[in-house]
Amino acid sequence: MTDPNPNRAHHAHHADEGHIVFDRIGKTYPGAAAPALTDISFSVARGEMFGIIGRSGAGKSTLLRTINMLERPDTGRVSIDGREIGQLDEDGLVGLRQRIGMIFQHFNLLSAKTVFENVALPLRVAGVAKQDIAPRVNEVLSLVGLEGKAHVYPAKLSGGQKQRVGIARALVHHPEILLCDEATSALDPETTEQILALLRDIHRKIGLTVVLITHDMAVIREACDRVLVLDHGRIVEQGTVWDVFTEPKAEATIALLRPLRPLRPPEPPERTPQARAPHTSAPNVAHTFATPQPETARHVAASV
Ligand SMILES: Nc1ncnc2c1ncn2[C@@H]1O[C@H](COP(=O)(O)OP(=O)(O)O)[C@@H](O)[C@H]1O
Ligand SMILES: [Mg+2]
Repeated sequence: MTDPNPNRAHHAHHADEGHIVFDRIGKTYPGAAAPALTDISFSVARGEMFGIIGRSGAGKSTLLRTINMLERPDTGRVSIDGREIGQLDEDGLVGLRQRIGMIFQHFNLLSAKTVFENVALPLRVAGVAKQDIAPRVNEVLSLVGLEGKAHVYPAKLSGGQKQRVGIARALVHHPEILLCDEATSALDPETTEQILALLRDIHRKIGLTVVLITHDMAVIREACDRVLVLDHGRIVEQGTVWDVFTEPKAEATIALLRPLRPLRPPEPPERTPQARAPHTSAPNVAHTFATPQPETARHVAASV
């Protein structure tokens, strides 16, 4: 079977399976009728790009936020490099959050502060010496392609540029892990493509572990090594993107992938069965991967 994305690093999901380990995580929000997460166990390898998908309300954000303890599970454990993070004290948590950057759908920039100050903020909060701040901010702005925008205010930036600021801010502490919560969902398809290219580039350059959640299957197809499917707070499927996307088994996965499926040519008339042959062969899986532009998925989604 041909790999859909031959440019991607292949070592990632073979080495060091236990970088981020979830062990029987459960979480019910106070007053909620049903648990947000039930019995979640899986692990993310160091240096991999790992996707989490699921319908709205499936528990994706809750799960992602247990990685930096923005959400505490009621049961089970999350460990990073063998260290159970639920056991960390306040200082330990501050240190953990510096090892983990996070980016969001709506960028979460401070509108009254310049690009430079937005990116510098985590360093200022951490008490980094003044003379060390500018070099690091400039370095990370150049990494995301925003040289020359340091003194601009967010209102003057495009969506893609705002997310670049978000990425720069998330990377300013040299994190080992980047969490992306619908980070491209407010962007048009072309900008999404550019931001994904940037994330892949950063991933390759600095060997970051990326955990991303999205409702956009094209993003998973373009960016991830492995994917996990959540439904009603439970894992219903996981595996390589190739395996899950070519042979989805869970009902939730099939529903999520429907927009990515190629449009079938119209059925020829019943009386000419020989004309049907090209269309009735096995589902055209290769086609699913042969159209890398997210526009294609949207176009197909819009036409069914
Ligand atoms: N802070 C919260 N308080 C109460 N319920 C919440 C909170 N955050 C999320 N939920 C509920 O938990 C479930 C999972 O939510 P979430 O993790 O945000 O799902 P997703 O990111 O997949 O859309 C949903 O039913 C949601 O309404
Ligand atoms: Mg969410």
